[in-house]
Amino acid sequence: MDFQDIHHEHARLTERLTQLSADVRTIRDDGVFDPKRFREVHRFINEVALPHLKDEEKNIFPRALAAGLPPEVLDLLKRDHEELRVLACVAMHSGLDGDSPVLPLDAVLVVERLIRAFDEHARLEESLFSDLERSLGVASSRSA
Ligand SMILES: [Fe+2]
Ligand SMILES: [Fe+2]
Repeated sequence: MDFQDIHHEHARLTERLTQLSADVRTIRDDGVFDPKRFREVHRFINEVALPHLKDEEKNIFPRALAAGLPPEVLDLLKRDHEELRVLACVAMHSGLDGDSPVLPLDAVLVVERLIRAFDEHARLEESLFSDLERSLGVASSRSA
């Protein structure tokens, strides 16, 4: 995975997060428990969002550091990842499983927070990684 791949993945994630956020808002506002939608939120967090964090830590963060991202900024991103993992864990423990017979309002609120935090984090990374790419482009065109 390189910076180009991560741009595409962030674009897909942001689009999906917007949809999920609308779904979760509907569940919260209507108070109607929708197991299918809730299961999809559960799937997205476990199968898409959390693996994305792991992939980034393995493949993108070392490149970003090598490309000149200051270590203290990288620490900030890593802290964000830990917070997102904690929120995901709290969401699971609040009843996010789609099999609950009642509306787990706590889970809805935590999921809303998680989705917002994930979206903000992805946008921050997009701007940092785009700056890095631009500076790499400038450096390589200077040395050409
Ligand atoms: Fe990230
Ligand atoms: Fe990301």
